[in-house]
Amino acid sequence: MANPTSTSPLLGDDHKSESPYPPVSYEGRNTYVVERPAARDRRRPRLQSRFCHYLLATIFTVAVLLHLRRPALHIGHLFGGRKASLGFPTMDSSMSGMPLFDLGDPRVEWECVNGEDFDFSSDRPSHDGRWKATTSLTVPVDASSLFFFSHGSYSYGDVDLVLAESASDVVSVDIEAGYHTRRALDRARACRFKCERFGEGVAILTPKREYPHRDHRDDVYFHLTIRIPPQASALRHIPSLRTSFPLFGQTMHNLTEAIEFGEVGLYSTNRQITTEDIRVREVGVHTTNAAILGSFNTTSNLTLVTSNSPIKVDVTAYNQGSVNNLVMHTTNNVLAANLSLLTSPASSGPGAFEVTATTTNSPLHVNHLTSPADSVLNAKFATTNSPAYVRLDPAFEGTFTASTTHFTPSIQYINAEDPAGRNRERKVHLDFVMRGMARGTVGWEPLEHGRGEPGSVVLSSTNSPVYLTL
Ligand SMILES: *[C@@H]1O[C@H](CO)[C@@H](O)[C@H](O)[C@H]1NC(C)=O
Ligand SMILES: *[C@@H]1O[C@H](CO)[C@@H](O)[C@H](O)[C@H]1NC(C)=O
Ligand SMILES: *[C@@H]1O[C@H](CO)[C@@H](O)[C@H](O)[C@H]1NC(C)=O
Ligand SMILES: *[C@@H]1O[C@H](CO)[C@@H](O)[C@H](O)[C@H]1NC(C)=O
Repeated sequence: MANPTSTSPLLGDDHKSESPYPPVSYEGRNTYVVERPAARDRRRPRLQSRFCHYLLATIFTVAVLLHLRRPALHIGHLFGGRKASLGFPTMDSSMSGMPLFDLGDPRVEWECVNGEDFDFSSDRPSHDGRWKATTSLTVPVDASSLFFFSHGSYSYGDVDLVLAESASDVVSVDIEAGYHTRRALDRARACRFKCERFGEGVAILTPKREYPHRDHRDDVYFHLTIRIPPQASALRHIPSLRTSFPLFGQTMHNLTEAIEFGEVGLYSTNRQITTEDIRVREVGVHTTNAAILGSFNTTSNLTLVTSNSPIKVDVTAYNQGSVNNLVMHTTNNVLAANLSLLTSPASSGPGAFEVTATTTNSPLHVNHLTSPADSVLNAKFATTNSPAYVRLDPAFEGTFTASTTHFTPSIQYINAEDPAGRNRERKVHLDFVMRGMARGTVGWEPLEHGRGEPGSVVLSSTNSPVYLTL
C-alpha cells in the first residue's frame, strides 16, 4: 500500500488527491494501532465494499481540499480562535519590536500533518508507556527568516538544532511524538507555514486546554530535530532563525564550522536552553526557571534572560564599530560568564562594549579574558546576599565603584604590560575604600584622556564580600 506520508508528508500533495485510495494508507497505518488498549478502533471491516472505499476516498479528498482552501481559518479556529497570538518577551532586545504571530491571520499559508496522519512505526509502547509516531517536514534554507515554534496546551518536549550531514537546499525537521492515547496524538498537528512577516518554518500545534483539570496522559511529548544543511564550499549564512517553544528544552549543537547566523532568538519557558557554540551577529535567549548554558560568538548584541536558574556562558564579542551590548540576567542562582571582548579586524576603532550581568541571592562570577587596548567598557554587575567576583582585563580604563553592606570591597590590580605597547604604566587611584564602598579610577599613564575616562564599572552586592580585579 502506498504511504504518502513517508514520501511527502504534507496534506494537499497532489498525488494524495489523485490517488483513488487516499484513505488506504490511513487505515493501513491504523492497523498498527488497533492492538493499543486506548486506541480508537478504526479497523476496516473485512467485507468493506470497494464503493465504500471510494466514497471514503472522495470525502477525504474533499476534506483535504477544503482544509487547504481555508487553512488559516481552520488553524485559527482549532488553536485558540482567530485572535490567538504568540507573544514574545519584551525584555529580550533582539525580540522586542517583534510583531505578534496571529495564528488566524489569513495571510499565513499553512500545510499540516494531523497527528492521526503521522507514521506509526512501533507496535508497542516504550518503557515509559508512550507510543511513538513520527513525521518529517522541510522548509527552504534560503527563506528570508526561519521560525520554529509550538503553540497550545498539550505539547512539551525537546528541540535539537543540528548540522545536516550533507549539503542541500532544505532544513528538514524530523518530528517524533510520544503519546499515551491516540486521542491525545490526534489533537496535535505539525505544520509548515509561510508568511511575509515571519518567513517560513514549522509549528507544532495543539489546542488550548479546555478544562483547568490536567491529565498528563493528554500531553504529547515531541522531539524535534532541526537539521540545518551546510553549504558545499563556503560558510552558510542564515539571516534569521527564531524559536518559540514553551516547555521545550532546546539545544543548539555546535554549528560554527559550517553555519553563520544573522540574528537568532531562542525562547522557552521552564526548560533549559543550551548553545554549544554559535557564530551569530545578534542573539537573544530567553527562558524561565531553567538554565542558559553555552558558548556564543557574537558581533553585535547578546541578551540572555532566565530566572531562578544558572547562566553559565562563554561569550566572545567582536566589535564591528557600534557598541556591543551584552546583557545577562537571572535570579536566585549563579551567574558565571567568561567574556572575551575583541575588535573585529574590519573595525576602524578600538571598540565599545556595554555589559550588564545581574542575579540575586547567588554568587556572580564574571571573568574578562581579554579586552582590546583603548576600548571602552561600561559595565554593571550586581547580585544580593552573595559574593561577587569580577575580573577585568588590564586594558580597562575608567572609574570603578564596588559596594556591599558590612564588608569592605576588595580591590586588586594586575601589574601588566601596556596592552597597546606604548610603554605606559598601570595606575590605580583609590578615591576611598571603606566598609560598604570603594571607588576609584584606573588607567594607563601618562593618560591619553581625562582621569576616570573613558569606561566605568559598577559592582554591587549586599551582606557579602565583593571582589574586583582591575
Ligand atoms: C565547535 O566546533 C569548532 C570547530 O569544529 C571547534 O573549534 C570548537 O571548539 C567547538 N566548540 C565547542 C564549544 O565545542
Ligand atoms: C567568531 O566569529 C567571527 C566572525 O564570523 C570569526 O571571524 C571568528 O573566528 C570567530 N571566533 C571564534 C572564537 O570562534
Ligand atoms: C570560564 O573559564 C574558567 C577557567 O578557564 C572555566 O573553568 C569555566 O568552565 C569557564 N566557563 C564558565 C561558564 O565559567
Ligand atoms: C545593541 O544595543 C545597543 C545599546 O542598547 C542599541 O543601541 C543597538 O540598537 C543594539 N543593536 C542592534 C543591532 O539592535
